[in-house]
Amino acid sequence: MKNYLGMFVHWGIYSQLEDHEQVLAKRDMDNAEYEKLAKTFNPVRYDPKEWVKLAQAAGMKYICFTTKHHDGFCMWDTKQTDYNIMNTPYGRDVLKMLADACAKYGMKLSLYYSIPDWHEPCAYNPASSHQWKAIAPEKSDTVAYRAFVREQIRELLTGYGEIYTLFWDIPPMIDDPSMNAFVRSLQPQILINDRGYDAGDFSTPERDLPKEGHFPRMTEACQSVGMQSWGYRRDEDYFTPRFLMYSIDRIMASGGSYLLNVGPKPDGTICPEAQASLRRIGEWYNKMEGTLEDTEADPFSYEIRANQFMPGGSCIALKKNGKTYFHFPAGLATQSLYLKKYPGIPKRVRLINTGMTLDTREDTPPYMIVENGIAKGPLLRITGIPSDREPLLTEPTVIEVEW
Ligand code: GLC
Repeated sequence: MKNYLGMFVHWGIYSQLEDHEQVLAKRDMDNAEYEKLAKTFNPVRYDPKEWVKLAQAAGMKYICFTTKHHDGFCMWDTKQTDYNIMNTPYGRDVLKMLADACAKYGMKLSLYYSIPDWHEPCAYNPASSHQWKAIAPEKSDTVAYRAFVREQIRELLTGYGEIYTLFWDIPPMIDDPSMNAFVRSLQPQILINDRGYDAGDFSTPERDLPKEGHFPRMTEACQSVGMQSWGYRRDEDYFTPRFLMYSIDRIMASGGSYLLNVGPKPDGTICPEAQASLRRIGEWYNKMEGTLEDTEADPFSYEIRANQFMPGGSCIALKKNGKTYFHFPAGLATQSLYLKKYPGIPKRVRLINTGMTLDTREDTPPYMIVENGIAKGPLLRITGIPSDREPLLTEPTVIEVEW
């Protein structure tokens, strides 16, 4: 898996309540009341081409769509339950429409599938961390539910073209490697996450910034544009694009992919706040993608002093095609960068954020006191970084060094 930026989409009948994707449980709703939402879901302004275009503007290379969330409502034409998109006033297979738009505009498609299912009585699983009230606990039947899941997975993996990744959500606490084997038999190239019936191919840190260092395993971190909900929420607290870019840079420079979530509104559109955030991220990411995707950790020890970073910041060095990319997710505190060790004098140094060439020279600053009070050097000094001006004040700084 090359590491990419992707768009996560949490969309379902819950969006009509403009609260949270798990509103059924969080607000302790009556099941029958909740199910009525299927009778009013009518996203007349849904145009998946617009989602794909927005994702592309942000530099995203794949879209991961919630086919079924914990509420059990299915956003495709499934034959396994009537609780699906065909039985709404809209009555169209929104997943098929999305898959067609992705195929047409060159976007990879991934599928999210919740193992907890608060609608199917046989799915009741008290061992799950996300089990909601039992509808009829006596109907709990793991064998029957696994057969149900299998048939739904068969529909999803045979009816919607090539699927890039499968995002199982919430481990059922039942190991069953035959489930992922079944998935792979239908789509051999697919990558499977670690929230299903076994450890899968990749890890999924959520709303988290793992410790520094390259990920030991294939990883896809996920985060939402807002801090409160993954589904559309009217009273959302949106993260600043600056924070999101910081976290994208941290994760992707550590070798991971990054799924950034939006929750479309009940009419099918993506709200202006989320759009603005993605477009701002795109302004930065489109300059950076070559320095993040398909790079490897640069093992050379440059010995950069931490007092050059903004508080809490760091430097992550990556390499690709004989170049080193110094990433400063939180930015630089000064206008020069000093490397204590370096493999040679660079041929060229560029600030990726603006494209400007930066001057480089060997220098012996006075603070290099190492022997008998005498400054010893030299260091490699990269100068003239406009750290106190836009865009560097609000986006991660990246410097390219061609050795
Ligand atoms: C958590 C939440 C769920 C959300 C998911 C996204 O598991 O419970 O609502 O879909 O995170 O990763």
